[in-house]
Amino acid sequence: MRLVSAENLSKTYLLGEVEVRALREVSFSIEEGSLVSFVGPSGSGKTTLLNLIGCLDRPSGGTISVAGENPAAMSRMEKARFRGDNIGFIFQNFNLIPVLTVYENVEYPLVMVQSVAAAERRRRVGELLDAVGMTEHRDKRPDQLSGGQKQRAAIARALVAGPKLVLADEPTANLDHATAATIMSAMRDMTARLGTTFVFSTHDPRVIGEADVVHTLEDGALVASRKGGE
Ligand SMILES: Nc1ncnc2c1ncn2[C@@H]1O[C@H](COP(=O)(O)OP(=O)(O)OP(=O)(O)O)[C@@H](O)[C@H]1O
Ligand SMILES: [Mg+2]
Repeated sequence: MRLVSAENLSKTYLLGEVEVRALREVSFSIEEGSLVSFVGPSGSGKTTLLNLIGCLDRPSGGTISVAGENPAAMSRMEKARFRGDNIGFIFQNFNLIPVLTVYENVEYPLVMVQSVAAAERRRRVGELLDAVGMTEHRDKRPDQLSGGQKQRAAIARALVAGPKLVLADEPTANLDHATAATIMSAMRDMTARLGTTFVFSTHDPRVIGEADVVHTLEDGALVASRKGGE
């Protein structure tokens, strides 16, 4: 099944009087249960594109549908709910909540979901903290963590509610080889068990090697799409 479908997607930012064309008529689709990477030089539009797929920003032109829904037709509230129900985010700057501990940050998306009981919540948060090797840091706040540790907490938070789609901006950039490999295999396991779809922006050859499809952006345009591992 098709989870994301984008047609002629464009994004132009206005920087004072200057127009920055961050995306130029990009078209692609993403199959459910796949692992997709967007690659390209700095400034090529990767983060901009992830923000559009995540319904965090609106395109200047073209259309996008996510899980059969059209974000352009949703109110702010509807979009927020849609994101909470369907999408996990791993941002380039992690976006951890500074006043909460690692444990509370990871638990946060579940607290928003009424249907998950406290015991089940503890089980899931514990499992994810283990998976990313952050159990010993669970009571620290983000300002007490290294870059790689913040990233691992952000990954656990993105996965904890079992989202249909996970969007990750450079998910392995600050991680050592062993941790990156553990996290990639946890993600592979989620696609196999739950049909989770992962969309990454990355420069990491290890992540590119794991991807089912690799799209290349250059100066806001999609210049190549190929099968992964090639
Ligand atoms: N809020 C904004 N206002 C103005 N211009 C922006 C804004 N966000 C991004 N841009 C510009 O849009 C272009 C694409 O930026 P984007 O952040 O999507 O690139 P990227 O591929 O994610 O780069 P990196 O690998 O460095 O993270 C760049 O020219 C950038 O300067
Ligand atoms: Mg970026």
